[in-house]
Amino acid sequence: MKAAVIHAFGPTDQLEIVDLPRPQRQPDEILVRVKAAAVNPKDTFIRKGYLKDFSGANFPMQTGFDFAGEITAAGDDAEAPAVGTAVYGMLDSWEGKTCAEYLAVQPHQLAAMPAALSFEEAAALPLVCSTALQALRDQAGIQAGHAVCINGAAGGVGSVGVRIAKILGAEVAGIASAGNHDFLRALGADHCVDYNATDITQTDYRFDIFFDVFGNQPFDKVKPILKPKGVWVSTVLQPHVFKSVEETQNSTGQRAQLVVVAARRADLDQIRQWVDAGRLKPIIQEIYPLEKIGAAHAQQETKHTRGKLVIRID
Ligand SMILES: NC(=O)c1ccc[n+]([C@@H]2O[C@H](COP(=O)([O-])OP(=O)(O)OC[C@H]3O[C@@H](n4cnc5c(N)ncnc54)[C@H](OP(=O)(O)O)[C@@H]3O)[C@@H](O)[C@H]2O)c1
Repeated sequence: MKAAVIHAFGPTDQLEIVDLPRPQRQPDEILVRVKAAAVNPKDTFIRKGYLKDFSGANFPMQTGFDFAGEITAAGDDAEAPAVGTAVYGMLDSWEGKTCAEYLAVQPHQLAAMPAALSFEEAAALPLVCSTALQALRDQAGIQAGHAVCINGAAGGVGSVGVRIAKILGAEVAGIASAGNHDFLRALGADHCVDYNATDITQTDYRFDIFFDVFGNQPFDKVKPILKPKGVWVSTVLQPHVFKSVEETQNSTGQRAQLVVVAARRADLDQIRQWVDAGRLKPIIQEIYPLEKIGAAHAQQETKHTRGKLVIRID
């Protein structure tokens, strides 16, 4: 099968399309013919070796964590979708492998994909939507009426985070460059803040939840604009985040949290229901053929992608 791999850590030109044997499915795994995948910052960090303590350094190393495709061999799980079902999902390991024609996954890592979407559209959803949902609902306890701020609101996680916060009844402020404000308003953002013009921490805003997706607004800086029981949630695995989480773990007032996304069938089912109901939709900046995966990584590394970058595998 065709698969994107790297043979060493390094720049985008390390990415190469090679022929690999199809994965051997374990009895509890499901084999998927992948039709589309998506790029995440995690893919680029792993490619550069920044996460080698987690990813290891076994080359050739495959890449990719989001996928959409069709089941070609079902596992033992009686509740798993049947052979031929169009599915979408994500890997929550450190081993990327969705940018390939075939993929063996655990049953909890996939679900039936939204009915009206193409494979490319479906592949744009799992990791970013699961992250935003788990951050806002599980880590921050979002409630209808909450004032929520999303920093990095135009990117992969942030853009669906705006939609999910709106679906859950929040009043949403999105932080992005001014050129993305019309885009944020179209997603439903009630307030838009330009990080080039305004330091949000010096404003009169007060938030129940501050979701620092981009990773440059530390808890200590954000505390003045959090309500007394406000929750700050970060996506980035950095020492200041671990410290703030530890320091506030028994707090009855303001708290810091870290989201580490997990693959959950129930969350993929929830995301599908919202998409099927027309409340959530994939946001795709560009679709690349597998052979152009290096260009997709380069775009992701600009840190100015709007929504997602998708890889077509056919
Ligand atoms: N812990 C987890 O489980 C988990 C899961 C998913 C992602 N993550 C992490 O979360 C981070 C974001 O992921 P992502 O996929 O959303 O990234 P992304 O799509 O690359 O984010 C790009 C967005 O960042 C915005 N941005 C750039 N500079 C900014 C600034 N100074 N202030 C605010 N926003 C700025 C850009 O908006 P403008 O173009 O308007 O500047 C752009 O829309 C990454 O570090 C990723 O690794 C962690």
